[in-house]
Amino acid sequence: MCGIVGYIGQQSLLDILLQGLKRLEYRGYDSSGAAWIEPGEALRVVRAVGEVRHLESKVSETDCYAGAGIAHTRWATHGSPTEENAHPHTDQSGKIAIVHNGIVENHDALRETMLSHGVRFTSETDSEVVAQLIGYYYSHNHGFEESVRKTVQKIEGAFGLAVLCLDEPDKLIAARRGSSMIIGIGAAEHIIASDMAAIVQHTSRVVHLDDNEIAVFADGGFHTSTFDRQHVDKEIEVVDMEVQEMELGHFEHYMLKEIHEQPRCLHDTLSGRIDLRNGRARIAGLEELHREIAKVRQIVMLGCGTAWHAGMIGQYLIEELARIPCDIQYSSEFRYRNPLVREGTLAIVVSQSGETADTLAAMEEVRLRGATCFGIINTVGSRISRETDAGVYLRAGQEVGVASTKAFTAQVALLAVLAAELGRRRHLSMDRCASFLEELHVIPEKLERILGKASAIRELTSRFVDHDHWLYLGRGVNFPVALEGALKLKEISYIHAEGMPAAEMKHGPIALIEPGMPVVFVAPRDHLHQKVLANIQEVTGRGGEVIAICTEGDRRMRELTDHIIEIPETEPMLSPILSVVPLQLMAYEAALLRGHNVDKPRNLAKSVTVE
Ligand code: M6R
Repeated sequence: MCGIVGYIGQQSLLDILLQGLKRLEYRGYDSSGAAWIEPGEALRVVRAVGEVRHLESKVSETDCYAGAGIAHTRWATHGSPTEENAHPHTDQSGKIAIVHNGIVENHDALRETMLSHGVRFTSETDSEVVAQLIGYYYSHNHGFEESVRKTVQKIEGAFGLAVLCLDEPDKLIAARRGSSMIIGIGAAEHIIASDMAAIVQHTSRVVHLDDNEIAVFADGGFHTSTFDRQHVDKEIEVVDMEVQEMELGHFEHYMLKEIHEQPRCLHDTLSGRIDLRNGRARIAGLEELHREIAKVRQIVMLGCGTAWHAGMIGQYLIEELARIPCDIQYSSEFRYRNPLVREGTLAIVVSQSGETADTLAAMEEVRLRGATCFGIINTVGSRISRETDAGVYLRAGQEVGVASTKAFTAQVALLAVLAAELGRRRHLSMDRCASFLEELHVIPEKLERILGKASAIRELTSRFVDHDHWLYLGRGVNFPVALEGALKLKEISYIHAEGMPAAEMKHGPIALIEPGMPVVFVAPRDHLHQKVLANIQEVTGRGGEVIAICTEGDRRMRELTDHIIEIPETEPMLSPILSVVPLQLMAYEAALLRGHNVDKPRNLAKSVTVE
C-alpha cells in the first residue's frame, strides 16, 4: 500500500526521504516520487514508475539539500501506475505539493467544482484533488495552514497527508483521518511517516497523530491541533523497535528470514504469559476486561487473509477449551452484513499490521452493536491496537515479507493461550490446562527441528513445482492450515492452489484429480487421522500425488505415499503451529524455483489499508 515519508531538518533531505521510501518498499507499491524546495526557491518534483531505485537514479547528487521535503510510494487505486499518477501532486500554480495515503471518496464532486473554477488536472488520481483544493484556497488569500485546514474539512474518506508550500519553504504540514501518520522526533529535526519502519533508524521517540489532527512543523518544533484549531497536547512514546528488524542479515529474503525467526518469535510471544504451575495465562489485556470476560456468551473472530486463518484455528481452540460459541468472520463480509450481535459478545480482532481497512471497519460495526473488542495485533501503536477495548501484542517483531509467516504462528500461539485461560475461568481443570500450556511452551524447540528439514523440503517441492494446480486438504484444526498453505503458494509462486476440508473433496473437487496432480494433506495424528488416511486413498486411487505433513513415525502414512514431511508429535490442537512451517517453506521454494520475487509479489501489498 501507499507510503509517506516527510522530513524537515538540517540533514541531507533526499538521502533521508529515499532511505525512508526504501524502508517502506515492503508494503508494496508501483511508483514513487519526492518533492522539495530548492534553495533558489523552485519546487522540485521527481517521480518514477517502478522501484525506488528508478526514482533514485533520477535525482542527482547536487539535489542534496537540507530543509523540508515529502516523498511517497504509490500503490495504484485511481488511475494506472504511471509517472503522471505518481505522487507528489502539485496544484495548478505549482506552489503546493502533497503526498496522500487513503482514498478521497468525494473526489468526483470536488474535481467537478475545481474544473468549473478553471482548474486543469494532470492526473487521473483522487489525490490530485487535494493539491488543487489547497492551491485554490491559497490563491484566494488564505494562508498555507488555513488552506490545508479548509481542504481537510472538505475531503470525505480516509487520508494521511503531507504538504509543502513554495512560499513557506521552512514549513511542513501533516494531517490525518483514518490513515496512519507518525511523527519521529529528533534533535531539531522531524521525520514523519505512515509507518514506523521509515522512522526507526532516526529516532525511537514518536508521536502518533490521531484522526482529525494536523501537525505544523516549523522553526525546529511542531504543534498539533484538531482540524478546527483546538490545540492538542500529544504524548511522546518511546518505541521499542530495532533497526535490525528491518535488515536481512544473512538471509536472501525477508520471508525466509521470518520463517526462521519463528522459534524466537514464539518464545517472545509466550514469554511471561504462561504460568505453568497454576495452569493459567497472564495477559494484561484480559485483566482489563475482567468483568466483560466473565459475562461473555459468544465470541466473534474478525480478520482477513492469514489472520482469518489464524482466527479459524482460534475458533476451534476456543470451542474446545473454553466451550464458548465462537464464529470466525471475514472482516470484509462482516462489515456490510446486518450481523446479529447478542449481549455478551466479545469480538477478537486479529491483524498483523493493525491497519487493515476491512478489519477496522468490521470492528467499528461490531462495537456499534455493543460488542467488546479485544485485539491480537503485531504492530505496536497501530490504529486497530489503539481502538480496541484491550488486547495483546504478538511481539513477533516487524514482519516485512508480504507473505505473512511469523505473525501467523504467533497469532495461533496467542489464541491458544487465550483459549486456555478462557477455559480455566470456566470448565477447564488446572491439570488439563497446565499440560496444554506445557506443550505450547516446548513448541519453539520442535519448530527448530522442522526448520532443519529445509533442504529436504526444497527437494520435494522441486519435484512438483511445474504443476499449475494444487490442492491442500485437512480436517478439523488442520483445515485452516490447508487454507493457509494454499494461500502462501498462490500469493508468491502464482500457482493456483485451493484449500478445503478433506472430506469436502468428494462433494465435487475430486473431479479435478488426475494422474500427477499434487495434493497436500495436512495430516498430523489426531482423532480424525483414520478418516484422513481414507481421504488420502481416494486421491492416490485416482493417480493424485499425495504430499503429506504427518507426525514423526507415522508408518501407515509411509505406506501410502513417498512424499512425506514429518513434524514432531504435539498436542493435536497445537499442531498448526508446526504443520504450517513446511507449507511456508514449500511456497518459498516454489516461488524461487519459478523465478519470482518472493518479497515483492505482483499486485500485493503488505497491509491493505484501502477497501
Ligand atoms: O495485517 P493483517 O493481518 O490485517 O493482514 C491481513 C491480510 O491482508 C494478510 O494476512 C494477507 O492475507 C497476507 N498477505 C497473507 O500472507
